[in-house]
Amino acid sequence: MTATYGLLIGSKEIFTDDLLPVQDKYSGDTIAYICQARQADVNDAVRAASQARKEPLSPYRRSQILYAASTIMKGRRDELAAIIAAEAGKPLKDALVEVGRAIETFRLSAEEATRITGEMVPVEAYPGSENRLAFTIRAPRGTVCAISPFNFPLNLLCHKVAPALAAGNAVITKPASTTPLSAYKVGEILQEAGLPAGWYNLLVGPGSTVGEWLLDHQEINYYTFTGSYEIGKRVQERAGFRKTTLELGSNAATIIHKDADLELAAPLCARMAFANAGQVCISVQRLLVHRDVYQSFRDALIKHTKALVLGDPKDPTTDVGPLISAKEADRIMAWIEEACNDGAQLLSGGTRRGNMIEPTILADVKGEMKVWCQEIFGPVVTLVPYDSLEEAIEQTNQSEYGLQAGVFTRSIDVAFECAKKLHVGGVIINDTSAHRTDSMPYGGVKNSGTGREGPKYAVQEMTESKVIVINHRM
Ligand code: SIN
Repeated sequence: MTATYGLLIGSKEIFTDDLLPVQDKYSGDTIAYICQARQADVNDAVRAASQARKEPLSPYRRSQILYAASTIMKGRRDELAAIIAAEAGKPLKDALVEVGRAIETFRLSAEEATRITGEMVPVEAYPGSENRLAFTIRAPRGTVCAISPFNFPLNLLCHKVAPALAAGNAVITKPASTTPLSAYKVGEILQEAGLPAGWYNLLVGPGSTVGEWLLDHQEINYYTFTGSYEIGKRVQERAGFRKTTLELGSNAATIIHKDADLELAAPLCARMAFANAGQVCISVQRLLVHRDVYQSFRDALIKHTKALVLGDPKDPTTDVGPLISAKEADRIMAWIEEACNDGAQLLSGGTRRGNMIEPTILADVKGEMKVWCQEIFGPVVTLVPYDSLEEAIEQTNQSEYGLQAGVFTRSIDVAFECAKKLHVGGVIINDTSAHRTDSMPYGGVKNSGTGREGPKYAVQEMTESKVIVINHRM
């Protein structure tokens, strides 16, 4: 029988009449049902979080719980990877990598829970503050609402939940409706790790109802969101003075300079343009290639792309699986077709099987084509030649987005010039825009969002500085 999961609110699993079927994204089969929240459930979750915070957990206890969760996750690696492969359509080998990363995200957050410090403030050095001792502490923000996306249903949720807990906040999470099972499993794991009731609450449902009720609720102190620019903008508008972290999209560029190691660059670009069917915010979408190496890089890219195996995510040999939905596959095919009608050259792919799109390479693209100037979030990479580094930097920066950029070069001068001049949150030298290690600061500029993830940086964002001044005259 197909399992039915409830919402997690306080110490209870709550079942509602409104069941959401969760589909295997390759076969289309319903693999589970999960309950959708009503407005009363949102209110109950906020109340449960507020109630939990009345008995704060010490940093030591938070750290111990997060370490335990990391260990439990390690023991459930295969089960979690199978869930990701089914609910997100992510190839099993990538799903296993994602679980490994989530284990690290929990471990890093456990460490950060023990490192939350303020600083001494030398107020006595200023007139009128004699006999005063001042220092800052970092206080939790309160109740954090974590709205997580479908593309890394486990690790991107963990990047919100684990630092929030490390920082001493209670969490209400609303995962993407297409991939809620990973978030449910995180709830199970945290409970087994000893997290008391109310610190992790799970609500499921559409943004138009559950999302809006969450944004309306004034007892929520902080929103951390990963998703589209449009929704991110709405979250920011509705949050008002409440703090947010917004990790939005990009049309990330990678520069292949004339002195690049093409044997390193070509396979990495092929892999990272099509990993998770391109549904990654830093996916290699725009390749700027120096004209001197354009032809050889192009040929190598086509060769490595054609070697990728398209198919069932559950098959351990699969490299590229389906898109999250038919609607997304329709949109991406329309963008490819539009580009080709406007003169782009199809070098590889461009065909569709069900919700799968063959890894697609487009050349001769123009600046105003959607495949270039908007975020495609699909298995499509575009190629453009350039003559000078200046031109490549300018084209990279000619974007509404600025999350990460990659640069392949053997020259330290070129590397530093790019590092200084590229207007993005991260510059990755001799790797693609899609490189991410979970400990590093991760976030963007311009329409790619605000704030930084990565446990150390997220803990900073999810706490606020409070100054304590002691008059020790008496
Ligand atoms: C994202 O799509 O923003 C996350 C990329 C990653 O964590 O590798």
